[in-house]
Amino acid sequence: MSKGELTGQRALVTGANSGIGKGVALALGKAGAKVVVNYISSEEDANAVVEEIKANGSDALAIRADVSQEDQVQAMFRQMIDAWGSIDILVANAGVQRDADFTEMTLKQWQFVIDVNLTGQFLCAREAAREFVRRGIVPELSCSAGKIICMSSVHEVIPWAGHVNYAASKGGVNLMMQSIAQEMAEKKIRVNSISPGAIATPINTDAWETPQAREELLKLIPYHRVGLPEDIAKAAVWLASDASDYITGTSLFVDGGMTLYPGFREGG
Ligand SMILES: NC(=O)c1ccc[n+]([C@@H]2O[C@H](COP(=O)([O-])OP(=O)(O)OC[C@H]3O[C@@H](n4cnc5c(N)ncnc54)[C@H](OP(=O)(O)O)[C@@H]3O)[C@@H](O)[C@H]2O)c1
Repeated sequence: MSKGELTGQRALVTGANSGIGKGVALALGKAGAKVVVNYISSEEDANAVVEEIKANGSDALAIRADVSQEDQVQAMFRQMIDAWGSIDILVANAGVQRDADFTEMTLKQWQFVIDVNLTGQFLCAREAAREFVRRGIVPELSCSAGKIICMSSVHEVIPWAGHVNYAASKGGVNLMMQSIAQEMAEKKIRVNSISPGAIATPINTDAWETPQAREELLKLIPYHRVGLPEDIAKAAVWLASDASDYITGTSLFVDGGMTLYPGFREGG
């Protein structure tokens, strides 16, 4: 992706102080976009991402908001639009896990994950779409009126024992994304998901930190390497750019082949 592909566009990335969101925010900045770095707990980390984007020559702004709270999401969008006039790209990335055996899973664990991973994406996508419809296409920026990228997971299709709340939230993201895409296409708003496989970030340290854990994980990845936030960031820049203009309602699996049923290489 050439530098400057997103010049002048304004992006908001939720959960951008860490992991995949941080990687996406930095890459959008390098491609020329101004970036809102949304965070919830660590202002220091968010400010560090802002400084790095600015050092690379673009503008950035840290805004605290809990994506599961309607009033906070609306206030974040107002702050961004007051600062930069509008929004062109939303990456609804913030996500959490609260794992438990199914019979032990509390309603609180279930609800918390659904609230952040699914309702949070609904609230952010709705605010972005409202602004895209109000403003319409700005031809000098993009041939689309706006782009929404939902951060889903391979677990939108792979069932995941011990993570029923998480898998349900990502399965929900898939049909939410497709339904929004179907509804908004006539307004020239593109809506897609990225479905990462195993990406080394703080959310899944246990899965890749020790050599034994990494070896077990690699059995599930035909391409035989753990993914990096940069792998997802490159896909996000492409989905945000006019290079992917005819793509809407798609879930792009960036997973080293994790969804290719690797157990069937020898079995079956
Ligand atoms: N890593 C993987 O292998 C993988 C695979 C598939 C999908 N994903 C998805 O990728 C996304 C990013 O995950 P990650 O791996 O980068 O994990 P991460 O490093 O833990 O990042 C999650 C981000 O979400 C933020 N967040 C959590 N609750 C929030 C809320 N209520 N409001 C606003 N922000 C909130 C976190 O902020 P704090 O740091 O302040 O808590 C953090 O910045 C998630 O949607 C996850 O489901 C990850």
